[in-house]
Amino acid sequence: MPANDPHDSTSPSPLLTLGHPLLRQVAQPVDAVEDPSVQRLIDRLLLAVQAANGVGIAAPQIGQPVQVVVIASRPNLRYPRAPLMPPTVLVNPRLVAASEDTELGWEGCLSVPGWRGRVPRHRTVEVDYLDRHGRPHRQVWEGFVARIFQHEADHLVGKLFLDHVRSETDRLSETAYQAMEISSLGK
Ligand code: NI
Repeated sequence: MPANDPHDSTSPSPLLTLGHPLLRQVAQPVDAVEDPSVQRLIDRLLLAVQAANGVGIAAPQIGQPVQVVVIASRPNLRYPRAPLMPPTVLVNPRLVAASEDTELGWEGCLSVPGWRGRVPRHRTVEVDYLDRHGRPHRQVWEGFVARIFQHEADHLVGKLFLDHVRSETDRLSETAYQAMEISSLGK
């Protein structure tokens, strides 16, 4: 990580988009969570995910190939039905268990603007991670939040949700997706 971070902490970092090679790189583990550069990176991720109406973000998306993600499900313009949770910082996350059963669900990605895809994910996951103070946690998530985790963990190994789309009918433009969402509201 560069010693001189060109981004201040008040304006959202630019997001890399599909085609940028850093999005396809495997991220490295963090060895010193308390390092000021890691703390600044975490602050930038928290700011970026909120500014972009995301529900999760991974460090490679702002150009840092290290194992830090934020999961921040909340109802917003892009995900009106997302459950509300406090933004959660995960450093060096490890999947320790996952349900055998999977479910299909729609996802987007701040690095793939304009597209949505329906992809299978484990319904529940159990995850080990460090928080931003370096304290270890083990957490079980299910449903949409488990989905977010799996999406963000993919970013740490250079994968994108598009890689999991299995058929043409499971890929929609954002416009077509929003139209489908609006027509299904109230059903
Ligand atoms: Ni993403």
